[in-house]
Amino acid sequence: APEVRELLVSRIRDVPDYPKPGVKFKDITPLLADPKAFSTLTETLADACVEFGATKVVGLEARGFILAAPAAVRAGIGFIPVRKAGKLPGATLAESYELEYGSAEIEIHAEDLAEDDRVLVIDDVLATGGTAEASLQLIRQAGAQVVGVAVLLELGFLDGRSRLAPTLGAAPLEALITV
Ligand code: PRP
Ligand code: MG
Repeated sequence: APEVRELLVSRIRDVPDYPKPGVKFKDITPLLADPKAFSTLTETLADACVEFGATKVVGLEARGFILAAPAAVRAGIGFIPVRKAGKLPGATLAESYELEYGSAEIEIHAEDLAEDDRVLVIDDVLATGGTAEASLQLIRQAGAQVVGVAVLLELGFLDGRSRLAPTLGAAPLEALITV
């Protein structure tokens, strides 16, 4: 709804020249600090879980955790963390992805996803789509079904949406705000 979008937009702060000159950083901490905005965001993401028939929420470390965990609780379904490599103690599945400089690796506990799970991936920001794409590969490796990706903010000029399209197939990418 437009009023939801307006509230969320009003609580995201633009930080110029962070983390480096020429970059305008989108800071979501004012939104998290505002209980009305944070609960509205949580409800909106939980509604997406219900709408897509999700049985699990996968949240992406670190900022994705903050949004995904309360949405999962609110929707009454389980939460599964995708973590940066080396943090999970059990048997993991792993995927690497390219960063601007070098590469990164993320992992998931293999046993947390079952083949009949329907998974909604939640993160704060979709930029190049590298992180989300790798998480979709993890879920695919686990044999579960991706029912969608939901993000608070899509940076449209980086076109992560196109990057995700082949992996997402018919599953929707829902961005509450696109800039
Ligand atoms: C940021 C953001 C997304 C990702 C988006 O996470 O929270 O997860 O980048 O970028 P991409 O679409 O180009 O992959 P970051 O890895 O900076 O770390 P954090 O969430 O742990 O703060
Ligand atoms: Mg992140």
